[in-house]
Amino acid sequence: MGARSFVVTLGRIAMEATAPDYFSARLAEYDSLVRRAVPDYDAMIDRMIAYLPERADRILELGAGTGNLSVALARRYPESRLTLVDASEEMLAFSALRVADPDGVHTICKSFEELELVPESFDLVTSCLSVHHVVDKAALFRSIRATLVPDGTFLLADQMRGQADRHHALNWNTMVEFWRRAGHLSPAEQASLAQHAAEHDHYVSIGEHVALLAAAGFEDLDVVWRSWMWGIVTGTAGTGS
Ligand SMILES: C[S@@+](CC[C@H](N)C(=O)[O-])C[C@H]1O[C@@H](n2cnc3c(N)ncnc32)[C@H](O)[C@@H]1O
Repeated sequence: MGARSFVVTLGRIAMEATAPDYFSARLAEYDSLVRRAVPDYDAMIDRMIAYLPERADRILELGAGTGNLSVALARRYPESRLTLVDASEEMLAFSALRVADPDGVHTICKSFEELELVPESFDLVTSCLSVHHVVDKAALFRSIRATLVPDGTFLLADQMRGQADRHHALNWNTMVEFWRRAGHLSPAEQASLAQHAAEHDHYVSIGEHVALLAAAGFEDLDVVWRSWMWGIVTGTAGTGS
């Protein structure tokens, strides 16, 4: 773990102070864990790829993790300059290594909340399974909108509440049933992920995402995929200032 990371142990309960600390501690198992915990994880990334714009020279990815989306972006846009952001030093180093061309990758180890993005400096901003850790999504969406060039694209895949409470409960219970399947999560992994969600996840619905993105000035908003708790929303920065 990096110097910034620490774990507080209270009796039997170990609490990672932040979501990036939680993922730093699970780097080695992350790729297996995410597929045993998130139904349709690979289908979600495939759908993101399908909705990428034809051309993007400067790309920002928020929450690179182990680089599953980063690698796909680098393949799709081999000439692009990819900027990966993650507050986990370990995750960031790992994802940057996985992208074939190290000269094409720039990394920023910062929390999304502290990130200072230069206006109109990216053609594409993407994020997968990461923004639900941010409380103030409105502020983040405004700064993403500002860092995009006119007509630049934002493509966000994430965990999102069901619009109605009963939908959220159904989505949550479906996820837990998926966790309990043979070969999926051990009881300790289930408890750990549930604790992580209680401490670090801040879900809002797809409708709220669309409203927040519209308020931030995004246009052409669309929900292009949904599977239980997971969804993909996309929009463009439009041409207004
Ligand atoms: C669930 S992982 C997703 C990784 C990858 N995008 C994927 O789809 O597999 C979330 C990643 O976002 C990072 N992260 C979470 N909250 C963050 C924050 N507030 N600021 C910066 N990074 C954050 C974590 O360190 C972790 O690498």
